[in-house]
Amino acid sequence: MAFTRVCRADEVWEGDLAEFEVDGHTIVLVHPRDGELIAIQGECPHQSFPLSAGEFDGRRVLICNSHRWEFDVLTGRGINPDDCELARYPVKIEAGEVYVDVAGIEPRRVGV
Ligand code: FES
Repeated sequence: MAFTRVCRADEVWEGDLAEFEVDGHTIVLVHPRDGELIAIQGECPHQSFPLSAGEFDGRRVLICNSHRWEFDVLTGRGINPDDCELARYPVKIEAGEVYVDVAGIEPRRVGV
């Protein structure tokens, strides 16, 4: 495990998301309302469009703005289509700071 500091926990508000670079990986921190911070891959598994530019319903569903693929950020599973998934990274929060570990976890791609 090699956790890297990403940002302050209060930089990503509930219902929002934001993109960061962590140890050479583009990630998106997602903060569902009434939930914990989640770290997912930053680029869509379909054709690598930035997921930070997607539409997040504030709770669970993230829609890529390129071809409208839908993902469940709580599980990382594709909703539509349902045969894809997002890589998720371990997150820890200490003293109000967010740390993410990307070691050994590669972004998911479709058709590669
Ligand atoms: S690049 Fe995201 S749905 Fe196509």
